[in-house]
Amino acid sequence: MTKKTHDLKRIRTTPLDAVIIGTGAYMPERILTNDELSTMVATSNEWIESRTGIRERRIASPEQASSDLGAEAARRALANARVQADEIDMIVVATITPDMGLPNTGCLIQQKIGAHNAFCFDIEAACSGFVYALEIASQFISNGTVKTALVLGAEKISCITDWKDRSLCVLFGDGAGAAVVQARPAGTGGVIHTIMRSDGRLGDLLMLPGGGSRHPASHDTVSHGLHYMKMDGREVFKHAVTCMTSVAKDVLTACGLKVEDLKLIIPHQANMRIVKAIGDRLGGKPEQYFVNLDKYGNTSAASVIVALDEASRKNHLKKGDLVLLVAFGGGFTWCASIVEWCHG
Ligand code: ACO
Repeated sequence: MTKKTHDLKRIRTTPLDAVIIGTGAYMPERILTNDELSTMVATSNEWIESRTGIRERRIASPEQASSDLGAEAARRALANARVQADEIDMIVVATITPDMGLPNTGCLIQQKIGAHNAFCFDIEAACSGFVYALEIASQFISNGTVKTALVLGAEKISCITDWKDRSLCVLFGDGAGAAVVQARPAGTGGVIHTIMRSDGRLGDLLMLPGGGSRHPASHDTVSHGLHYMKMDGREVFKHAVTCMTSVAKDVLTACGLKVEDLKLIIPHQANMRIVKAIGDRLGGKPEQYFVNLDKYGNTSAASVIVALDEASRKNHLKKGDLVLLVAFGGGFTWCASIVEWCHG
């Protein structure tokens, strides 16, 4: 047997649990109501509310970028978790509206909140972004690489919205949410299991075509409106319902759970009709489905964590409760996660 010449310290030892120990959200102050939107495009409060359930949304000020919204959500999450910024090892930000190409939004938030011991990066999985990011962070935590992670969804969707396109501009809003996720001994709870799926064949149905390496920003891309989102709303609707329902069923089956075992279901906050259609297929009681899209519209990657934060602050969750997070977005991407609540 060869004699060991080193004394390797094993970092990846026992699997640990990744537990959400605090959440926070920041929604810009400016409220844009359906009535005000009706003065901007040919629409009405009645049309928007009956088709989507949305009554109003928040719009960031011209000075605010996604990192500003995210930094404020992060401060609130840290306060809620009673964690100092310098204790954070990792920041992962889900966004389709980064402040700029580089630095990444995570680094910008790191600088704003003083989390100087963290490594930081962004991920892009559209409206599925927060759940994807939560699972990425929980993998780092489970294998012992990271003790404390800050996971965010932060979006200024208003800057990629064509305010002349009535089929799109009524749906979205700005906002940010954050979760502090920390390692705990196995068996504590936290992120129990996540399933993440994608289908790039359907990417054309929801796109932001301009400004990347395919169509770099130019007078031409701007004059053709390529810096705005494009969407086939009806197709997106159908896939959102089918995919969120199936991935939710799959994660429940994988965990040996029934819908009745869940305290809350937090679906991506896109459209009340999508949430109801999922409810019809998945089952459960209406009060299990947490919805706040009436106030904020679809905030893309921020939507699930903003809703989770509100549910937590309204005391809808207590220790030991099981929560289902389920999301769908451009790509297409979709995912579902079972979280055992350990906070509060
Ligand atoms: N106000 C008034 N009329 C409108 C508006 C508006 N804001 N927008 C569209 N219309 C008109 C259309 O022009 C159309 O008129 P026509 O019949 O004369 O052609 C009519 O309303 C019906 O349009 P549809 O597209 O059939 O309306 P639908 O019932 O499908 O609702 C909606 C549209 C709300 C966009 C729906 O398809 C939807 O919610 N899709 C999902 C989109 C989504 O949530 N995307 C977010 C990103 S992905 C995600 O987060 C899941």
